[in-house]
Amino acid sequence: MKYLTLNNGVQMPIVGFGTWDVRGKNGKRSILEALEIGYRLIDTAQMYNNEDIVGKAVLESGLAREEVFLTTKLYRPSTSYQNAKADIEKSLNNLQTNYIDLLLIHEPYENALEMYEAFKEAYQDGKLRAIGISNFDTKKYEKFIRFCGIIPAVNQVESHVYYPQFDLKKQLNTRGTQMQSWASFTEGRKNIFAEPILLQISAKYGKTSAQVVLRYLIQNGIAVIPKSVHRERMKQNLDIFDFELTAEDIEQINSLNGNRSLFGWY
Ligand SMILES: NC(=O)c1ccc[n+]([C@@H]2O[C@H](COP(=O)([O-])OP(=O)(O)OC[C@H]3O[C@@H](n4cnc5c(N)ncnc54)[C@H](OP(=O)(O)O)[C@@H]3O)[C@@H](O)[C@H]2O)c1
Repeated sequence: MKYLTLNNGVQMPIVGFGTWDVRGKNGKRSILEALEIGYRLIDTAQMYNNEDIVGKAVLESGLAREEVFLTTKLYRPSTSYQNAKADIEKSLNNLQTNYIDLLLIHEPYENALEMYEAFKEAYQDGKLRAIGISNFDTKKYEKFIRFCGIIPAVNQVESHVYYPQFDLKKQLNTRGTQMQSWASFTEGRKNIFAEPILLQISAKYGKTSAQVVLRYLIQNGIAVIPKSVHRERMKQNLDIFDFELTAEDIEQINSLNGNRSLFGWY
């Protein structure tokens, strides 16, 4: 596994396992499988209603707690200092752990700065190893960091070949925030896996288009958290460190950039 160093020195795996819509017994089995295969970052959120199975899977995996990087997020019900403070305890409880590796504000809520006060307190108390945000665009990010006190370690945003958000990436780089992609596979939109440019490049390396898009993002310095409940795909999505895209490949993939969100969140 390759790691990135966050702005406070914490090491974060560049590839993680997404758990949106991964629930119940089968969901827990998928998370366990991901850990067996070699994933060392699990991305969850209170909104996903699955922190409990993430916690259980980590315990059942037999891995030492410090070997697994846990990310979770607080959302709308936590948008006050008091609620965020209480909900951090809730996540610790759900995940059956005494610290969370990375806690994010799920979206740019009006009271994000107030939530962040509770994050900073828990960070200073050692309950959180790193704190950050999600779905902040360039304007909202800039406004947030003027007042937030601790520069977010991560901004997790929509980022894929059709909307990589390189301008945002550049801005985050200058301020010291790591970008992490959600929907690296567009959640399957635009028939991404059959995109001719991706198929052509993947054939050259004996890889799949899924592997090429992940490789494209990490070569651009963007961390990824692909989700799959299929063992073969989970393996595939982790097996991206034995080939390298050329500048020409990257140039070709850049031509897919439509500079527009596929989810309409921004
Ligand atoms: N911060 C936020 O607001 C936010 C928003 C959305 C998501 N997220 C996080 O980001 C993670 C990833 O995003 P996502 O789950 O929305 O979408 P995604 O990773 O772009 O796409 C997942 C889809 O791709 C399929 N897939 C996975 N690997 C594949 C492969 N190698 N070949 C073909 N198909 C493949 C999966 O199907 P199978 O499962 O059937 O294999 C699933 O349908 C989420 O799970 C969540 O943790 C965060």
